[in-house]
Amino acid sequence: MKGIILAGGTGSRLYPLTKVTNKHLLPIGEKPMIYHPIEKLTEAGIEEILIVTGTDHMGDVVTLLGSGKDFGCRFTYKVQDEAGGIAQALGLAENFAGGEPVVVILGDNIFESSLQQAMDNYDGTGAQILIKEVPDPKRYGVAELEGEKVVSIREKPENPRSNYAVTGIYFYDNTVFDCIKTLKPSGRGELEITDVNNFYISKGAMKSSLMEGWWTDAGTFESYQVANELVRS
Ligand code: G1P
Repeated sequence: MKGIILAGGTGSRLYPLTKVTNKHLLPIGEKPMIYHPIEKLTEAGIEEILIVTGTDHMGDVVTLLGSGKDFGCRFTYKVQDEAGGIAQALGLAENFAGGEPVVVILGDNIFESSLQQAMDNYDGTGAQILIKEVPDPKRYGVAELEGEKVVSIREKPENPRSNYAVTGIYFYDNTVFDCIKTLKPSGRGELEITDVNNFYISKGAMKSSLMEGWWTDAGTFESYQVANELVRS
C-alpha cells in the first residue's frame, strides 16, 4: 500500500500564521505539522509517500522533507495548481498509486494511535474510514449511523445526526480515481472527499471503525492549540 499526504489549501482559518508559509509547516510540539502524518505512515511500514501541496510553498516543503531518506521512506511530490478541494488533490495521485490501494492522510490531522491495526483490517478493496466522537461535529464530515454501520456522511451539517466525525484518514482501492472523475464541485466550489466516501457507502463498499486514542485536526486556532497541547502531553 502507498501513502498520500494532502498538504494543500490556503490555511485561511489560521491567517496570518499562514500568510507567508504553508499550514503544514507550522510547529506542532517540537516538529513541523507534516512530520506527524509522515511518521504515522512510516511507523506502519509505508515506504512510498506522495505529498500534494500548492504552488506557493512547494519549494519550502521539498527543502524541509527532501528525498525521504531522513524518514526511511521515498517522497514523491505533486503540485495542486489551485485549491480545488481534498478530492481534487487526491485525484492527482492516480499515476503515483499505479493501481495499488492507498492510505490518505490530511496533513493537519494529528492523532495518537498507530495506523497498523486499521491497515491490517483493510483488505485493499473498497474503502475504509475511521470515525471519532467529538464535542463539535458541525466542523467535520459527520457519520450517520445505523447501529455501528455508517449509512451516510454529511459535510459540516447544521444539524448533525451523530457526534461522530469522519477523521481525515482514508483507505481507498484504485476505483477512487474513477469516482473522483465523476464528481461535481460542491456549494463551496470544491470536490468533496465526503462525496467520494458516500459513493463507496452507496455501493456497500465502505468499512468504518472507531479511532482509538486522541485525534484532532489543527486547521483552526482552537484546534491548533489543542493539537500542540496533546502532542506535548
Ligand atoms: C475535512 C473534510 C471533513 C473531515 C475533516 C477532518 O474538512 O472535508 O469531512 O471531517 O477534514 O479533519 P476540512 O477541515 O478540510 O474543512
